[in-house]
Amino acid sequence: MIISYDYDLSGWNTFGMKVSCGCFVEYGSAEELAVQWNAIRSGDDFPRPFLHIGRGSNLLFTRDFPGTVFHSDIRFIRPLTDVHPAAGQDSAEVLVEVGAGVIWDDFCRWCSENALWGPENLSGIPGETGAAAVQNIGAYGVEIKDIIRKVTCFDCVTGNSTGFRTSECRYGYRESIFKTSAKGRYVVTSVVFALSSEDKPRLEYGHVRNAVEQALSENGSAPCCGKVGSGHAMTPGLVRDVILSIRDSKLPDPDVVGSAGSFFKNPVIPRSDYERIASIARIEYGQEYEVPHFDAGSGFIKVPAAWLIDRCGWKGYREGNAGVWERQPLVIVNATGEASPREILDLESKIRLSVLEKFGVELQPEVEHI
Ligand code: EPU
Repeated sequence: MIISYDYDLSGWNTFGMKVSCGCFVEYGSAEELAVQWNAIRSGDDFPRPFLHIGRGSNLLFTRDFPGTVFHSDIRFIRPLTDVHPAAGQDSAEVLVEVGAGVIWDDFCRWCSENALWGPENLSGIPGETGAAAVQNIGAYGVEIKDIIRKVTCFDCVTGNSTGFRTSECRYGYRESIFKTSAKGRYVVTSVVFALSSEDKPRLEYGHVRNAVEQALSENGSAPCCGKVGSGHAMTPGLVRDVILSIRDSKLPDPDVVGSAGSFFKNPVIPRSDYERIASIARIEYGQEYEVPHFDAGSGFIKVPAAWLIDRCGWKGYREGNAGVWERQPLVIVNATGEASPREILDLESKIRLSVLEKFGVELQPEVEHI
């Protein structure tokens, strides 16, 4: 276990906020955490409050953190069943357990290299596997909950390990019990994924299918996957490459420009509110104009926050060191690398106010404010 005091967190948040914490603790296994936990909980050496982070890819540190930050360095990818089920075997399902500290995209790449379907649409999302399961990351029509079979946690109250089936995690849009009712109690130590060795592409989101078909016609076969030459042109590797290039064209590279991805959630609003927005849009942009939207069921409609922010004129806006990404206005960026938390918070407030004034919609941050 590594323990450091007055620790610089600049490298531990993708927004690049120059903040520090009172104490930083990194553990390498669930067993190590369990053995040390009583001493940590009862000792004065670890300032309060406690905070567990992954790579800090969905966090905005609003100031120096006075307490103790914990990070899991549990890194393993362990198949629990045969990775290449023999032809004729009953099930094409492959179960793989992944340590919470594994970089999420490293696991996505591992799946592609092993010709396993499941996380390919979630390729390129920054962060680690444990945090991804807490946040229920989602992109291009897939959420991580769709491929999770079990989440194993350390229980900070009992000091024991405990498992949650997917249904017990109460997953929703960027939600789980680990962020809500059980926040602070459980630390994810590993996640079991149910993958498939049989073709299972999910191409319904936006223009993903078109992009994949174009890549297929250009390549003839998939570039980076074990099935090349076996008669399958469509592979997880091909879909992964397409998703990575879509992301590249829209989102800032966190290694180059600081951000925490989508800053706001897409609002889910009553149909009557959507109708009001649609009529504002028709007045402003013409009678034929259709506001992008998705039916969220039970009389609710999901409207892209990117559209609302875009229509308020924020795309590419810069104020001091903070800005709005020019190709995806849902992303607030640390444009110069020197932005202070105050600058990001001020820009957040201005964007929220303008969307509220123009469309009557209150945007909620997706990024967790610490
Ligand atoms: N749009 C605009 N202007 C723009 C960009 C988008 O009006 O400049 C509108 C368009 O109508 C577009 C719609 O917004 O069709 C949706 O845009 P996009 O497909 O880029 O997705 P999003 O809803 O803005 C969500 C996730 C992203 C994820 C993408 C792709 C949230 C908060 N964000 O964004 O996740 O990558 O879908 O699936 O749900 C993240 O969570 O950090 C993240 C990047």
